[in-house]
Amino acid sequence: MIYSKVIGIGSFVPERVLTNDELCGIVDTSDEWITSRTGIKERRIAEKGLTTSDIAAEAAKKAIELSGLNPQDVELILAGTITPDMIFPSTSCIVQEKLGLKNAAAFDISAGCSGFIYSLSVADSFIKSGKYKNVLVIGADLLSRITDYTDRSTCVLFGDGGGAVVLTANTENTRGILSTHMHSEGGHDDILMLKGGGSLMPASLESVNSREHYIKMKGSELFRYAVNYLKAVAEEAIEFNNLKAEDIDLFVPHQANIRIIEATAKKLRFPMEKVFINVEKYGNTSSGSIPIALDEAYKSGRLKEGSLVLIDAIGAGLTWASSIIRW
Ligand SMILES: CC(C)(COP(=O)(O)OP(=O)(O)OC[C@H]1O[C@@H](n2cnc3c(N)ncnc32)[C@H](O)[C@@H]1OP(=O)(O)O)[C@@H](O)C(=O)NCCC(=O)NCCS
Repeated sequence: MIYSKVIGIGSFVPERVLTNDELCGIVDTSDEWITSRTGIKERRIAEKGLTTSDIAAEAAKKAIELSGLNPQDVELILAGTITPDMIFPSTSCIVQEKLGLKNAAAFDISAGCSGFIYSLSVADSFIKSGKYKNVLVIGADLLSRITDYTDRSTCVLFGDGGGAVVLTANTENTRGILSTHMHSEGGHDDILMLKGGGSLMPASLESVNSREHYIKMKGSELFRYAVNYLKAVAEEAIEFNNLKAEDIDLFVPHQANIRIIEATAKKLRFPMEKVFINVEKYGNTSSGSIPIALDEAYKSGRLKEGSLVLIDAIGAGLTWASSIIRW
């Protein structure tokens, strides 16, 4: 049996902090509303000129350094992102060039906030099939570039950042990715989408004036899907591995909203001490959310060698996914 073992991890967030109080000067909101409805206190915003590939490359560089691999050993680069530098070439190809990963194939995966776990799943399948041994998996987004700062119902939620892991084939023991599960359900454009800039609505004066190049979201409808689907996909992972909830050492959920995290943890009967939370610092960074959280959990000692970690996420599509990793 081949397992995909995590041998390197890294993350990067822009320096600039946007606090709830600052947002009160931009839209009609309050720190009290944002904190009580979302748990978010601040988020990071990329300065002008910083791109998704810059963030991805910074995170990936740290992950490769920690892995001890020679950059030439990376055979595949996968980047989960919905905010690529440009429509093409892919952000993965741009990262390849920035880091000199000359021997790798590279492509992006668009799965909304599930982008990192989808990418992890694809990477794991390539490793298990024997096709590749060393794969760089990135999740990075600059949601501030597609956030409408006149819409108080969305602009308080999102931030910028990214993370990366290096996976390698491991045949010696059971450390690595034990399972991944992915799901999709099209037909929910009405609750979460960015319509402008694609083939349906190419950029035009009209599309810009009607603010179609920004995220449109129906938050409370999405909230209900999130709690139910995240619970279901977490249970699917636990049952698939013949585990019980209490066997999981750390639950690292997508950091979208503290209320979604708490409601899901409650349904799964996870005590909050076993749940990793950093949504208060970064808001929802989409594909960046899980790898940033994993990196912080690892660096703070909450994720140790042999720990059983469960991750799950939901995003536009809808897409949702989970994975259990023996760290
Ligand atoms: C967005 C979200 C925080 C809103 O919380 P909610 O409890 O569902 O709140 P509602 O949407 O019902 O809005 C309640 C009221 O607050 C108002 N409101 C919305 N944003 C506000 C803000 N930033 N400040 C103050 N009031 C706000 C609304 O206008 C509404 O007012 P009304 O009742 O007078 O119409 C929550 O629905 C959520 O997190 N949803 C999931 C979002 C998500 O995870 N997206 C990404 C998925 S990957």
